[in-house]
Amino acid sequence: MSELYSAKVLDHVQNPRNVGSLEDANVVVQTGDPNCGDALVFFIKIENDVIYDIKFLIKGCGAAIATSSIATELVMGKNLDEILTINDQGIATALGGLPEEKMHCSNMAASALHAAVQQYRATVAGEARPVV
Ligand code: FES
Repeated sequence: MSELYSAKVLDHVQNPRNVGSLEDANVVVQTGDPNCGDALVFFIKIENDVIYDIKFLIKGCGAAIATSSIATELVMGKNLDEILTINDQGIATALGGLPEEKMHCSNMAASALHAAVQQYRATVAGEARPVV
């Protein structure tokens, strides 16, 4: 594994940041990769269109753990428009790259973040019920 992955990926696999759940999350999103059966949940606290806190739980491979972990660092303190500019390639780049066959693993974090923005905006607009 260490030959395939950057030192930063290995660090996030061995010491994932922001693991767990948030009791005061106002957005909870789950996503999965149907090809491998892995799944990711983000618990997010958003106020005034800014992410104040985020944690995650995951059932997934090392690349999924690392991409979810770095994604929490990338979005902390960012506003929702900035979140929508983050994609799977950007997440992989922040980790120093991923092997081509593991690029799909970074899709879970990116798609969950975009879904979180949509869910929050729908809740604010009164189109969806808040999770708390
Ligand atoms: Fe399933 Fe990586 S193999 S997310």
